Amino acid sequence: MGRIVTIIGTRPEIIKMAPVVKALDGLDHEHVLVHSGQHYDLVMDRIFFRDMDLREPDHQFELKEQPPHLQVATTMRQVAGVTETADLVIVHGDTNTTVAGALLAKKQGRALAHVEAGIRSFDKTMPEEINRIIADQLADLLFAPTPTSADNLGQENVTRGVHVVGNSVIDALIQNLPNAEAKSDVLSRLGVTPRGYLLLTFHRAENVDSKESLARALDAFEAAADEAGRPIVFPIHPRTAKRLHEFGLESRAKGISTLRRIEPMGYLDMLVLEKEAALVLTDSGGLQEESCFFRVPCVTLRENTERPETLAIGSNVLTGTDPKRVRAAVRRQLDGKHDWPNPYGDGTTAPQIAEIVAASLG
Ligand code: UD1
Ligand code: UDP
Repeated sequence: MGRIVTIIGTRPEIIKMAPVVKALDGLDHEHVLVHSGQHYDLVMDRIFFRDMDLREPDHQFELKEQPPHLQVATTMRQVAGVTETADLVIVHGDTNTTVAGALLAKKQGRALAHVEAGIRSFDKTMPEEINRIIADQLADLLFAPTPTSADNLGQENVTRGVHVVGNSVIDALIQNLPNAEAKSDVLSRLGVTPRGYLLLTFHRAENVDSKESLARALDAFEAAADEAGRPIVFPIHPRTAKRLHEFGLESRAKGISTLRRIEPMGYLDMLVLEKEAALVLTDSGGLQEESCFFRVPCVTLRENTERPETLAIGSNVLTGTDPKRVRAAVRRQLDGKHDWPNPYGDGTTAPQIAEIVAASLG
């Protein structure tokens, strides 16, 4: 019997790894779940365990407010005792938790698997791009979501151990949507109607960590709501809320009557909010994928994306945060056809990963 150690720590890792954790729990191997503590607020962390019926981690660590390099260093130090006897360490995505787990595994001579491997924005100013490249260079098993991501790995001379398996974001959606639709009263709670609002999420460091950029984004939000003739529902990430406050932009945000800021949403409420939105405005990776699945048009408030599949099929367009470009894109996306195919798989990513992991452990 082998010992598998899976490391998670942030909202997207919890959501996208929940189906994978459940599939790995079903194998005839020991499966240890570790939470780095990178995200810790109820609405950024615990709520997803409840919403997705995910078991508690076997080891829960604490990071709280630390700069990125200390998030990585502290995670490596804290998790080392758990991974040192692992036959396989599994990390997901592109966060500081991901890169800490990947480095730790290889420094301890352990085998490493990376879920959501090979996606690239080709923008090394993003902390996430650095984290992805490192995890992929170190991994022995690489679970690429699409042929494009596998090609990206090939361009970096990573060809061994690569498996194209779709993205477990789809497994999570398919497994949780019926429960979300049965349980969530989010539309009536917020007093909105299907297609009567735009949904916004916005938290990328490069967008919110400078006052100029965040101020321009507020102008873009106002323009988007005006063009769509609909209000914006904005579950706000704690990083963005903090920056609005620090930069003295609170009153500007409050002054936009069409911008409705709310607490971050639980996963079930979020699925319903996304499915019923007229359009998604975002800089999140996960929302570009999920909106594509729901056939809700997306406008991505960035200059690049590591999800080029969504651009190719027209579900998504890139605009940065220039208000004029955002306005034009909102119009085009609302008026366009919404019948694109979903490029991220059929919801069987987690069992595929579990099967490959089991085969690798023998
Ligand atoms: C991280 C990931 C990003 C991912 C995002 C998902 C990295 C480099 N970035 O960004 O790729 O898209 O998670 O949401 O790992 N905070 C709270 N409560 C929490 C969590 C965070 O208040 O539960 C605040 C803290 O002030 C913290 C700040 O948000 O310092 C940033 O959190 P951090 O985990 O460092 O990065 P994210 O911006 O969340
Ligand atoms: N999400 C959520 N509530 C929110 C915002 C996002 O449940 O208020 C979910 C969203 O549906 C997706 C995931 O969080 O599954 C995306 O995470 P995030 O945007 O934090 O990170 P990214 O995908 O950009 O790394």
